[in-house]
Amino acid sequence: MNFKEEYAGRVAAIEEILKNYIPKAEGPQQLIMEAMEYSLMAGGKRLRPMLMQETYRMFGGSGKVIEPFMAAQEMIHTYSLVHDDLPAMDNDDYRRGRKTTHVVYGEDMGILAGDALLNYAFETAAKAFEVAPEKSLLIGKALRIMAEKAGIYGMIGGQVVDVKNTGKPLDKETLLFIYQLKTSALIESAMMVGAVLAGADEGQVRIVEQVARNVGIAFQIQDDILDVTSTAEVLGKPVFSDEKNAKATYVTLVGLEKAKEEVEWISEDAILHLSELPRNDYLTTLIAALIHREK
Ligand code: IPE
Ligand code: IPE
Ligand code: MG
Ligand code: MG
Ligand code: MG
Repeated sequence: MNFKEEYAGRVAAIEEILKNYIPKAEGPQQLIMEAMEYSLMAGGKRLRPMLMQETYRMFGGSGKVIEPFMAAQEMIHTYSLVHDDLPAMDNDDYRRGRKTTHVVYGEDMGILAGDALLNYAFETAAKAFEVAPEKSLLIGKALRIMAEKAGIYGMIGGQVVDVKNTGKPLDKETLLFIYQLKTSALIESAMMVGAVLAGADEGQVRIVEQVARNVGIAFQIQDDILDVTSTAEVLGKPVFSDEKNAKATYVTLVGLEKAKEEVEWISEDAILHLSELPRNDYLTTLIAALIHREK
């Protein structure tokens, strides 16, 4: 099997898991469940649950305790996209090849669907206590990581500095701070949760965090590159969104060619540190493949 086929197989398996954890659309509040499903099941690369599962496997993890956490991580990521696209933020009309949630359901429901996904993520992850009661301590640790990396010291913190600096020229240090928080944090969460639930030790979890940090920064630089080099058809979201919002990015800071080089260097550094951990060839190939991703 080649990498593309393996990747597609994993995405299909992740989507099956997601379906198991999506709330049923019923009752007077049915509309919000529909909006949640609309954004969640629109496709997307499913990178964060995949990284979580592969890190879990890398440390010998098996069994279903990882599944509610995989679904929860994708819910948190999806909520971050729904809110990122709102008129008050990046004001984008397309996401994952469809009209954005606020365009279809209205801004009020867009805000609430994001809130609902975030809250439901933790309702979902907490189901792990029922799946594997004997792992309660590890589950508690994983929940803490997931909460922290999504919050003011993680993704939300990054979005705050990103939004507040829109229209301003930024130095590399500030830009890297933003990327580390707005993008790396959820990838760190995914990989660290996988490691913790599989029983990795403290030192190994720190290495995983470092690897994920670099994967996230490279991923965001590549996202900035694709914003100016790709098409809406391929990406499933608008191009030139950063220019429209007068956002400083890695591309505006160092230029396209240098930005491409950085994606390569930073990813190679991630792979180097990954080699200090138990072997998972698929995970290594996945991180390497992200360097040249086209969407
Ligand atoms: C988009 O994330 C937001 C960024 C951090 C750049 P993805 O590119 O992983 O989005 P999906 O999940 O594939 O839609
Ligand atoms: C998004 O950064 C990071 C998030 C936490 C959602 P961008 O604003 O560049 O992501 P896209 O390009 O809209 O996916
Ligand atoms: Mg944004
Ligand atoms: Mg955006
Ligand atoms: Mg972008």
